[in-house]
Amino acid sequence: MSEEEKLSYSEAIKKAYASVYRFPLIPVRGIPIMNLIAKNWDSIWAFRPEPSDLLIATYPKAGTTWTQEIVDLLLHNGDAEACKRAPTPIRSPFLEIFSPPPIPSGLDLLKEMDPPRIIKTHLPFQLVPPGFWENKCKAIYVARNAKDNLVSYFHFDCMNMTQPDPGPWEGYILKFMRGELAWGSWYDHVKGYWMEREKKNILYLFYEDMKENPRREVERIMRYLDLSVSDEVISRIVELTSFKNMKENPMANYSCIPAPVFDHSISPFMRKGEVGDWRNHFTPEQSKMFDEDYEKQMKEVNIPFRTLI
Ligand code: A3P
Repeated sequence: MSEEEKLSYSEAIKKAYASVYRFPLIPVRGIPIMNLIAKNWDSIWAFRPEPSDLLIATYPKAGTTWTQEIVDLLLHNGDAEACKRAPTPIRSPFLEIFSPPPIPSGLDLLKEMDPPRIIKTHLPFQLVPPGFWENKCKAIYVARNAKDNLVSYFHFDCMNMTQPDPGPWEGYILKFMRGELAWGSWYDHVKGYWMEREKKNILYLFYEDMKENPRREVERIMRYLDLSVSDEVISRIVELTSFKNMKENPMANYSCIPAPVFDHSISPFMRKGEVGDWRNHFTPEQSKMFDEDYEKQMKEVNIPFRTLI
């Protein structure tokens, strides 16, 4: 997409400023979701992907944008310029998003694209349109340890003026634990995809693994997508998708959504990109309370999360 077209996406957002506010959450089959998504639920549920489409599913702030960039680069054989054709949400639309006009919805953008499309979703497994599984689409799920995911979501809710007001940190922890944040319970989200990963051939990745050894994880994604790129291209993709490089890349750092919608001066979208930042936020008491509750909520599964690497 040209610079002019990129501007038109940002322009659409600017034109919608007056209608942007912290949208309330409405339950869709028990999952709290922003009201515009809830209102349009039937059209989202009816979405029919093509078999070649790829789904990238995450709980918000688990490493979605990073994975979208890796996949786009793999599909373009590491061509950095090709992957600067448009900002992330245009290259890889957000399936369920509905925003005030003239901002295009995820479904609007998908309609204009040819498959194979890289489709982002935050929907929990049971809310993913069944067409994805009927058409045997590939799906990558990225999970991030609960504490870092929560910290990242807190900062995001401070800067994203379309999300409910996060309120103070200590209360936010409780909302996360009770599954009251947008897209519902982190615990149910990570468990939902974990239980289905074998039946539905879902590639289940961890943010911490990606940080620890990005090359290994890029190669894992490559094999899952039945692609074969050279070692040199893998090295280039690892470099192009480092936190530092993505933070500086206007087509990957969400500068396409300017203030006052995303107020990057409150917290940049590309904030820290680390494992273990939770230690700078949780008091020892909060950590203890969180861990005790975590044991209860996660007792029936053994998902190998790591809070430090
Ligand atoms: P932090 O807030 O902890 O910095 P999502 O894309 O799902 O919204 O996730 C955003 C989180 O992923 C943010 O976490 C962001 O900084 C981090 N992130 C984005 N790109 C990254 C990269 N290339 N490497 C590491 N972390 C990245």
